Amino acid sequence: MDVRSLGLRTDLMLRQLAGSQITDHGDHLVVRTPDNPTFYWGNFVAFPHPLRAGDAARWEALFTQYHPGARHRAYAIDEPSGEVGDLGEVAALRVERDINTVLTAAAPLPRSQATAEVRPVQTDQDWRQVLDVRLSCEDGPPDPGYADFLSRKTAEARWLSESGVGSWFGAVVDGRIVATLGIFSGGGGIARYQNVETDPAFRRRGLARALLWHASGHAARELGAHTVVIVAVPNYHAIDLYRSAGFRDAEKQVQLQARPPKP
Ligand SMILES: CC(C)(COP(=O)(O)OP(=O)(O)OC[C@H]1O[C@@H](n2cnc3c(N)ncnc32)[C@H](O)[C@@H]1OP(=O)(O)O)[C@@H](O)C(=O)NCCC(=O)NCCS
Repeated sequence: MDVRSLGLRTDLMLRQLAGSQITDHGDHLVVRTPDNPTFYWGNFVAFPHPLRAGDAARWEALFTQYHPGARHRAYAIDEPSGEVGDLGEVAALRVERDINTVLTAAAPLPRSQATAEVRPVQTDQDWRQVLDVRLSCEDGPPDPGYADFLSRKTAEARWLSESGVGSWFGAVVDGRIVATLGIFSGGGGIARYQNVETDPAFRRRGLARALLWHASGHAARELGAHTVVIVAVPNYHAIDLYRSAGFRDAEKQVQLQARPPKP
């Protein structure tokens, strides 16, 4: 499958770097991440076009065939315009629709006025603090399944950082990491940001802005990136931060997902 969209292309780049299994079946792609089976976007099927008549039944059958143990369902559509296709078929799939915005900028970003102590995340304690930041961004304590997912994602982030294909950075206040993000590249001059998050008690101090700028310099200098890519929910304030930091809207990314049925 010839992947056209930057969102899916950089997702696949990250999955490849992280050691996920990616199988190209010509008219669809299958991604599996056995180390984190409840990670939707590590365990999904990607299709090259929006839904057409008959696709819902076919896509569901393919997902079940390739991910027989999964309780979720996740379908990526390689359509940079954001078009989902036949709405009757979307309804038949019984999925939530996420149409996110893919933004790009030249690396490095324009210099940020925000000042913060930013450093690479390295030690066991640093990584524990990264996980704490991730957990702090949840509304209340996450259920054990989600906490396990976040813990596995953090372990993967560490493994990726230590394998030299990118880095995770923390903004430090009083000796503690309270805001974090990652940036990775599989080559080709493109680097993709991951998980821009600030502990709610430390927001609106410019920490995420400082991290974005710092990581873009790292991408340009150390990863050979001329372009940095970030994906944002269109109606959440993070996209304003990205636009004001120098990013421009480039494409849409279409992801369809169904959560596990409640027990
Ligand atoms: C998005 C997020 C990382 C921003 O972190 P932050 O450290 O507070 O961001 P900054 O202080 O650097 O904010 C920079 C700019 O972003 C915008 N912004 C940040 N928070 C905002 C809010 N609550 N409402 C409106 N604009 C906001 C503003 O333009 C702000 O500049 P200003 O403070 O000069 O007005 C943080 O809100 C967060 O962790 N959210 C939950 C996780 C998440 O969804 N991350 C984004 C994934 S795409």
